[in-house]
Amino acid sequence: MTSTHAFWLAGREAAGEDSFDVTSPWDGRVVGRASVPSDAQVEEAVAAAYAVRDEFAAVPAHVRATALDHVAKRLTERTEEIAQLISGENGKPIKWARGEVARAVSVFRLAAEEARRFNGGEAQRLDTDAGGQGRMALIRRFPKGVVLGIAPFNFPLNLCAHKVAPAIAAGVPIILKPAPATPLSGLVIGELLAETDLPAGSWSVLPVANDKMPALVQDERLPVISFTGSEQVGYAIMDSVPRKHCTLELGGNGAAVVLGDWASDADLDWAANRIATFSNYQGGQSCISVQRVIVDGAVYERLLPRIVAAVEAQVTGDPADDKTEVGPLVSEAAAQRVESWVNEAVELGATLLTGGERDGATYAPTVLTDVPAGATLATEEVFGPVLTVTKVDGEAEAFAAVNDSKYGLQAGVFTHDIQAAFRAHRALEVGGVVIGDVPSYRADQMPYGGAKQSGVGREGVRSAMDDYTYERVLVLTGLAL
Ligand code: SIN
Repeated sequence: MTSTHAFWLAGREAAGEDSFDVTSPWDGRVVGRASVPSDAQVEEAVAAAYAVRDEFAAVPAHVRATALDHVAKRLTERTEEIAQLISGENGKPIKWARGEVARAVSVFRLAAEEARRFNGGEAQRLDTDAGGQGRMALIRRFPKGVVLGIAPFNFPLNLCAHKVAPAIAAGVPIILKPAPATPLSGLVIGELLAETDLPAGSWSVLPVANDKMPALVQDERLPVISFTGSEQVGYAIMDSVPRKHCTLELGGNGAAVVLGDWASDADLDWAANRIATFSNYQGGQSCISVQRVIVDGAVYERLLPRIVAAVEAQVTGDPADDKTEVGPLVSEAAAQRVESWVNEAVELGATLLTGGERDGATYAPTVLTDVPAGATLATEEVFGPVLTVTKVDGEAEAFAAVNDSKYGLQAGVFTHDIQAAFRAHRALEVGGVVIGDVPSYRADQMPYGGAKQSGVGREGVRSAMDDYTYERVLVLTGLAL
């Protein structure tokens, strides 16, 4: 019998009258049922979060840190079971799902560490002018207000962790809404938080239906919105609440640049393997997966066949199998969209070197060259296991090609030249540059976010804590400094 997963309303388990099936994109089996909160239950959660905000801000650091450490410990203990849940509802191969649980453990652990050192206060002397004699300022951070966290399907556990853990670390109440396709992993976070002593109301995990979200987004008791997902939805939210604080983690069409000095056989094998792996991990459904490979003409002819071979070596299949590297996309509709973009590029003159086939929700790892500028694939985020390879002449042309995009999340540059690394850091219009590897590297403590239409603001545990809070200055007078 399929179990129905309760949701978490103001820190306690609750069920609504409605529920929906969560199915595996691989074989359509029902992974679980998610209970849906009624409007009244959502209102109860928001009212509780709003009411507890002062109390929560005053909870001592050791209490918040202990709760976060507890979640990290329990995630570790339950790794295999949670990885199977992620893999089941998302279709992510089990080995990547295990990696995701390990990352969520890090997020909660990092948040516990940050909670212990956050907001010690920064002192600033003010006697730099006669009017400030005997005065100093103490600068501390305070919550902007209750956070509405909206998480996507592609990392159903860890991107929920990135919303929740920094909020708890900073003493900010949060209402978390997991993605409708993958709510069960986010609900596990609720299950573990319920084992802690955090004040009732300080957190809720609510699988609210998407069509109910506009009202929640408008709610004035939720002044901070932290959204990860598509560009269209993210900007629609921001445009609908221009006076709220919105952090948007949106799309990307990650570029991997291979410069001419990355030229030994070992260099090219490494680049090809990394590009193949991180174009296809999680079916390419990561905002920093490799979509565009930009290669200096000096190494292009030697690299291209290696990339094709490495992509063809990717093991596609059942996500439950330990050997599988590429599973299905989140839905058949998602795979059909990817298929239509590849077909369009080929019709417009692109050369298909491998892949290009769909079987249900699974799309074969695909490599194209000569993709014309007018193709959707050349400009939009494919969010599928597809990469395009472009030949350029030298570093300046390579960097210009990276920047020739409306997105700017992360870029990878394969080079041994430290000066080129610094030039890349200066020139590339992205939130992060990775040297000697693909753009798909994210350590969870790093500031993470985009330039241009890849988003607004930064996540990463400490960055999110700063984002959820603001500086308030305390001026002390009459001091014997
Ligand atoms: C994303 O898709 O933006 C998240 C990538 C990651 O956390 O590795």
